[in-house]
Amino acid sequence: METTIQSIIANLNDVLTNENFVGIGSTRKAFKYKQFVIKKYVHEIGYLQTKNEAAIYEILLTRDLAAHVAPILYVDKHLMIQPFYEQLPLCNNSSYDLDLQEEKRLTVDLKEVLSIINQELDGFDFRDGGNYGLDDKGNLILIDYGMTKTLYENKWVPLAEAGILPQIAFERCQSCGIEKEIRTYGKEDLDRRCVACGKE
Ligand SMILES: Nc1ncnc2c1ncn2[C@@H]1O[C@H](COP(=O)(O)OP(=O)(O)OP(=O)(O)O)[C@@H](O)[C@H]1O
Ligand SMILES: [Mg+2]
Ligand SMILES: [Zn+2]
Repeated sequence: METTIQSIIANLNDVLTNENFVGIGSTRKAFKYKQFVIKKYVHEIGYLQTKNEAAIYEILLTRDLAAHVAPILYVDKHLMIQPFYEQLPLCNNSSYDLDLQEEKRLTVDLKEVLSIINQELDGFDFRDGGNYGLDDKGNLILIDYGMTKTLYENKWVPLAEAGILPQIAFERCQSCGIEKEIRTYGKEDLDRRCVACGKE
């Protein structure tokens, strides 16, 4: 039977499992199910990011540029669904900044998209390799494009400073000893374990 968005929504208990987990950002947790990614918000800002993405996606559609960003197939207040894209290889278990000048997998059209989002649509921060996937031709696809400058300054930064959203740094996990992305919540947080070792 073909998997549909409705069948995913009707069976979330089977979909949002540890086995299907594929990644976590500061505000959304991603699960792979068949050809889809389901992103569950871990904070309200995740929902605001998704709403920005949906609006940006519509604008890119009118300019014939939407093929270079992940489409938003379904949105509600708790999660969103988009296609799964092959992830970029990690370096030392961590995503890394892309050199967008040198990047061969960045198409001319995606460059145009980045400049529109950056200059006209209040978006930013396109170097993080964790925000891209690869399409079936091996070209980069932007999968995380809803964090605007306004949202970042007005909501994200104050919450990160208050320890409610994680600050992400590259450090040695005090449990497994591997250099990884370590998330800390405010200055008081001394738990320097990676997510795989149980950091909530
Ligand atoms: N469409 C997708 N296909 C494959 N993997 C994905 C997809 N969307 C997200 N991921 C994985 O899940 C992770 C978290 O998703 P995403 O970056 O959208 O969350 P976020 O909370 O918005 O992140 P950030 O902290 O960068 O704002 C990504 O870094 C990536 O590893
Ligand atoms: Mg991200
Ligand atoms: Zn660890």
